[in-house]
Amino acid sequence: MDRNIRTVEDVLNLLDDLFTPDADRWTSDAGAWWDAFYADRSRPVPFFEAKPDENLASYLDRRLITPGRALDLGCGPGRNALYLDSLGFQVDAVDLSPTAVGWAEERARETGANIRFHRGDAFALAGTELSGRYDLIYDSGCFHHLPPHRRISYLALLDQLLAPGGYFALTCFTDGESGGSDLPDAAFYRDARLHGGLAYTPHSLRRIFSNLTEVELRLMRDEPTESVYFGEPFLWTALFRRDA
Ligand SMILES: C[S@@+](CC[C@H](N)C(=O)[O-])C[C@H]1O[C@@H](n2cnc3c(N)ncnc32)[C@H](O)[C@@H]1O
Repeated sequence: MDRNIRTVEDVLNLLDDLFTPDADRWTSDAGAWWDAFYADRSRPVPFFEAKPDENLASYLDRRLITPGRALDLGCGPGRNALYLDSLGFQVDAVDLSPTAVGWAEERARETGANIRFHRGDAFALAGTELSGRYDLIYDSGCFHHLPPHRRISYLALLDQLLAPGGYFALTCFTDGESGGSDLPDAAFYRDARLHGGLAYTPHSLRRIFSNLTEVELRLMRDEPTESVYFGEPFLWTALFRRDA
């Protein structure tokens, strides 16, 4: 007989298990799925190019954020981590996929970047490998791959790792089915799938991150192919600040 639920973490793990292995993109078991995703570097995936997000560059250009300790959450092949390093941030970067981290490490060696990479589930590493406080936590495209209940872990991670007065920024799928799925939260559990990722409205983002102060929330600029920046108009970009 299974009567294992005692804590909130037990409930979160049980909800994780409702998703079929193929639909699981966020637990430690999902590293293999992402490894396959990153295996062929020649695929025309826009974020495979080593270009930083246009919104991140814009925050820095406008001095909304300034160099300090940064965490790139779900860093993939490291394009934003590399950019932050080049501007003088001390960067930690974490991803579930050893293949993605290996690729990011190669890029860092080639460019002389000094980034501390971590392989694994950011939620499991928070407080151990990922410790202390960050002045910036940056997430490009990881949050929208989490199932609804993992927002609880996500907010706990921000609470634990974001410095007072620090900034949290993310890019995530817009609503209107141009990016992610507009289905209601309950539907993902019913279907045991995340349908490629969750769409968010500005209202839902403001509600989820209501413990933080909004600095800017807007659509990402559509960057032309020749641009030095990454920009896709099916993503929201948001910058929040934690009270000092
Ligand atoms: C859409 S990719 C974006 C990669 C990168 N941020 C970029 O924009 O180039 C999402 C990444 O989040 C990572 N990821 C998902 N859940 C994670 C978790 N719990 N801990 C660490 N990384 C995670 C995946 O392995 C994947 O590389």
